Amino acid sequence: MIIAIDGPAAAGKGTLARRLATHFGYPHLDTGALYRAVARRLLDAGQDPTDAEAAVAAARAVTAAELQSPRLRDEEVSRATSVVSAIPGVRAALLQFQRRFATTPPGAVLDGRDIGTVVCPDAEVKLFLEAAPEERARRRAKELRDRGVPAIDARVLQDIQERDARDSGRSTAPLSRAADAYVLDTTQLDPDAAFAAALAYIATRAP
Ligand code: CDP
Repeated sequence: MIIAIDGPAAAGKGTLARRLATHFGYPHLDTGALYRAVARRLLDAGQDPTDAEAAVAAARAVTAAELQSPRLRDEEVSRATSVVSAIPGVRAALLQFQRRFATTPPGAVLDGRDIGTVVCPDAEVKLFLEAAPEERARRRAKELRDRGVPAIDARVLQDIQERDARDSGRSTAPLSRAADAYVLDTTQLDPDAAFAAALAYIATRAP
């Protein structure tokens, strides 16, 4: 079974994806980490994230080991990531890796922006996570502070709104809900409640 989880920044995709993966015994791919690793490479090399040629070369060179770096979560990387991820050649370079991961038995959990629409349009389970922007900013700011990075909720809110607008507005594989995705609004749900709601839905899809 393939479980595809999409949604805007800090809607709770990663937490839910990890818990579902553990529950079903599937590997989990945080596809945002792939795009973040491309941005990290460019920034480290002093290259411009809008330079399509450099970005495609970086996407082809990304290795699995780079996906583990804690430096992928820095806010400068988040901003640069939504720029590089709008470049069609970057998305094409990362597509095969994602599809191979998804289709390897016995199943997989992938989270991102275009999993249910582009990467795995045939996934048995598609979840689209949402939450109010203020709540998402609060969660992301706390996540940053827990890592020792000073963060102001209002600034983080502005950043994620700009990123959501870029992710939704791009012409290649924009953030959008697949017609057959189950929408889960996590504004009022803690991680346990979101997990329970997702499991209840999955039980109706794959009894
Ligand atoms: O954790 P958060 O939701 O803030 O971000 P992420 O899932 O790590 O994704 C970071 C950025 O990568 C997003 O803002 C998108 O621009 C891009 N991305 C994408 O274009 N397609 C994906 N499948 C996953 C991420």
